[in-house]
Amino acid sequence: MQTLLGKHIILGVTGGIAAYKCAELVRRLRDEGAEVRVVMTQSATEFVTPLTFQALSGHPVHTDLLDTEAEAAMGHIELARWADGILIAPATANMIGKLAQGIANDLLSTLCLATEAPIAVAPAMNHIMWSDNATQDNIATLKNRHIYIFGPAFGTQACGETGEGRMLETHELIEKLDSLFSHESLSNTRVLITAGPTYEAIDPVRFIGNRSSGRMGFAIAQAAIEAGAKVTLIAGPVNLQTPHKVERIDVESAHQMYQAVMSQVAEHDIFIATAAVADYSPIETHDQKLKKSEEMLSIHLHRNPDILAEVAAMNKLFSVGFAAETEHLQDNARKKLKSKQLDMIAANQVANMENPDEDTGFNSEYNALDVYWPEGYIQLEKARKTELARKLIELIAEHYKTKH
Ligand code: C5P
Repeated sequence: MQTLLGKHIILGVTGGIAAYKCAELVRRLRDEGAEVRVVMTQSATEFVTPLTFQALSGHPVHTDLLDTEAEAAMGHIELARWADGILIAPATANMIGKLAQGIANDLLSTLCLATEAPIAVAPAMNHIMWSDNATQDNIATLKNRHIYIFGPAFGTQACGETGEGRMLETHELIEKLDSLFSHESLSNTRVLITAGPTYEAIDPVRFIGNRSSGRMGFAIAQAAIEAGAKVTLIAGPVNLQTPHKVERIDVESAHQMYQAVMSQVAEHDIFIATAAVADYSPIETHDQKLKKSEEMLSIHLHRNPDILAEVAAMNKLFSVGFAAETEHLQDNARKKLKSKQLDMIAANQVANMENPDEDTGFNSEYNALDVYWPEGYIQLEKARKTELARKLIELIAEHYKTKH
């Protein structure tokens, strides 16, 4: 399992006895790397206290649509947008009926109408209630609307009877939720990605570097894994965890990155160059730490190889570049697309380092991208880098398939 890492999950708990099992579910979701916000209906709070879920999720529990304090912290529309997925577990017959009818008379049912994220429900109820025609009709309606139905299972029930209506076990819910986020748009495809900055050594302790965090490249690696690709990530010096299943090669300098990429080219189909590779490196690297003896110091630099341009010129891999610009974004991106003979380029305005309000670009969790290819262009609005990465991977998959 790997796709839940970094996902924002709303766990909607409704009033069934299986609610107690969801305490464990929150823990397991967090173990998988998901961030969890719990929303409870009033009747759910009769079974388990919000405090339990608050302690386990690390966030206050949302219970009320009209709670001004909670709305001030994170309003229901904001919460609906925050979610990458909503899982309702346990889902009572009542909540299933409300979803089928589009009723929005509490926070959870309102969120389900207000979100664009996938919704899954894990029914849990007495087996006669489950098999009732009304419930079955409602379930058919939800399936038609592409709401996922997880379970229920057959077995002994809290009421003492045996039948179909038990909520799925925690590990089964986790597996199903995980599969919601994986798809196959890049199956049988091998993706090579560069990420992060490069450090060009001046002497044993000093280097020329840049402010790239590597986050965008790592998010793209994760998104490519979710799309079924085999992924090799060549990373400069960054402080990030390797996404599950990604093969990572660490390098420091532009030259090392060049060599690592060239040794991998033959094994891959798509090249995505997100790294902020230094364009120049010192001609001479001193063996010993430089002393501050002179008033002036000159360091002579020479051009580094352009890794992306060389790979693209081979005309074997579908090549995607990044353009971080401080001005003339469109013009520069289009020029690079052409001069480097790329299949696609994603351009972003680099954050103004003196203006902390500009929270996109190098060190931010957010970004916005203008993506160009020879015949077209699309704007991907400001979003978390993980979300943008998924959109970009879908775009790349689409164009890669058209080309082949
Ligand atoms: O020309 P410029 O450096 O602005 O182009 C940026 C794009 O080229 C990025 O995709 C970057 O990863 C790639 N690049 C490279 N090797 C270099 C310089 C840039 O692969 N030496």
